[in-house]
Amino acid sequence: MDRTKIIAHRGSKGTHPENTLEAFREAVRVGSDGIELDIHLSLDNELIVIHDESVERTTNGKGNVQNLTLTELKQLDAGSWYSPEFSHCCIPTLQEVFNLLEEVDYQGLVNIELKTDNYSYPGIVEKVWAFVTEKDWSFSVEYSSFNYETLVQLKEVDPTCKIALLFENNGENVTSLSPTIPVRMWHPKLSWFKGIRNSEIPVRIWTVNKNEDIQYCLQKQVAGIITDYPERALHIRNKW
Ligand code: G3P
Ligand code: CA
Repeated sequence: MDRTKIIAHRGSKGTHPENTLEAFREAVRVGSDGIELDIHLSLDNELIVIHDESVERTTNGKGNVQNLTLTELKQLDAGSWYSPEFSHCCIPTLQEVFNLLEEVDYQGLVNIELKTDNYSYPGIVEKVWAFVTEKDWSFSVEYSSFNYETLVQLKEVDPTCKIALLFENNGENVTSLSPTIPVRMWHPKLSWFKGIRNSEIPVRIWTVNKNEDIQYCLQKQVAGIITDYPERALHIRNKW
């Protein structure tokens, strides 16, 4: 049995401004087995790494990513909201994140979450797949989404691509759908997993931050945990 993979949520979200190059560098530095990130499309169809549809929570800008150009997005400060020491951080493109991970020869897993929950972002599936497959990266790539239709589209574009189904709460709506496409992993919340205590499909649980929850997941030998504190989780796993 493989040991539980430690996946850095939005980079190392607990210690650095989420979804920035600095957060991803930190995730690599601490030895994360995987890195999770979120993508949207800008007005000019660039793949942008940010969690929210709006830039307002994590930058000094206003408006939604889909209504802003890459040039406009790149002018925003994506670090000061977290701490003044990160005022130099900006919103990265997926290309910039991949370039960084390639430069450091990152050998882990990159989990791209397509944020098509409210906006469908026409063309985002084809665009991200074309980008990811344009070269052999040093790391492997998997996709996840709360939007089941997005995962179906990914499988239509590339039946070999690895997908994970994300779900909130009890997951009734999605677990009933999952057999219609080959889902490699489920990405549920810990509360769901604690409710069932077992899953036929391997699970990577999010977002597992507390020491006791990390220990619980390690004890249950889940496939992975997605955590804001990868260094903490790795430390606990190393002592396990
Ligand atoms: O992939 C797990 C987690 O990232 C899903 O929720 O809202 O943090 O993107 P959220
Ligand atoms: Ca996410």
